Amino acid sequence: MAKYDKTEIGISTLLNPVPVVMVSCAGENFAPNITTVAWAGTVNSEPPMLTISLRKSRLSHEIISQTGEFVVNLVNKSLAKSCDLCGVKSGRDINKFETCSLTPIKALNLDKAVAIKEAPVSLSCKVKSVTELGSHDMFLAEIVGITASKYLLDDEGKLCLDNAKMVAYNHGEYFLLGEKIGFFGYSVASSDIFEKRMGYKKERDKYKRLREQGKKNGKKF
Ligand SMILES: Cc1cc2nc3c(=O)[nH]c(=O)nc-3n(C[C@H](O)[C@H](O)[C@H](O)COP(=O)(O)O)c2cc1C
Repeated sequence: MAKYDKTEIGISTLLNPVPVVMVSCAGENFAPNITTVAWAGTVNSEPPMLTISLRKSRLSHEIISQTGEFVVNLVNKSLAKSCDLCGVKSGRDINKFETCSLTPIKALNLDKAVAIKEAPVSLSCKVKSVTELGSHDMFLAEIVGITASKYLLDDEGKLCLDNAKMVAYNHGEYFLLGEKIGFFGYSVASSDIFEKRMGYKKERDKYKRLREQGKKNGKKF
């Protein structure tokens, strides 16, 4: 069989990999809740907007419909197991914050929804519209505030998500993001920029420094 021979495999939601996120919310008469969402995506830059799609049966659907607010919490390796649990148990049956030992905190620029303190990045969202698609309702929302863990910012205040051990969802399985192989525009970047952005220059400089220091101390490399 030749490598690129094709066969038909049926129609499904096979757009992969996708982000998997923990959506947190809270409302009057509802304890803070978390649900796991894989049907989430960025849909606009100005203003920044995203969508999440929820089945009507989810408790989170009921809460978010009532408040018009939710928080998209990004998932790293330490949150992965909690993320899965929040996707297989309903807030109608358990308190997921308590079960996962997670902490609800006030969400930036929102009145009712909560964020997850342990999440590396949390996006506060205000619902703009709800569209019934079939199995799921799509909540289109504007991102009105973002918080990030301080340890993820470099000296210039730039967010370094590559240090966050982020998780993606691929065809029913969770994966830890691995090796960086490029960046936006790397196909046309000069070799100088490429080496700098990939961290190769920093590594080389580090070894050069160590070699020079070693020479001074009489060590051989
Ligand atoms: C990896 C994963 C992804 C999921 N993605 C979605 C989704 O995009 N939309 C949805 O309605 N449910 C999704 N679910 C299922 C809900 O998270 C699950 O039914 C949850 O228990 C609902 O919680 P709630 O009733 O407290 O809102 C997903 C579950 C998992 C494990």
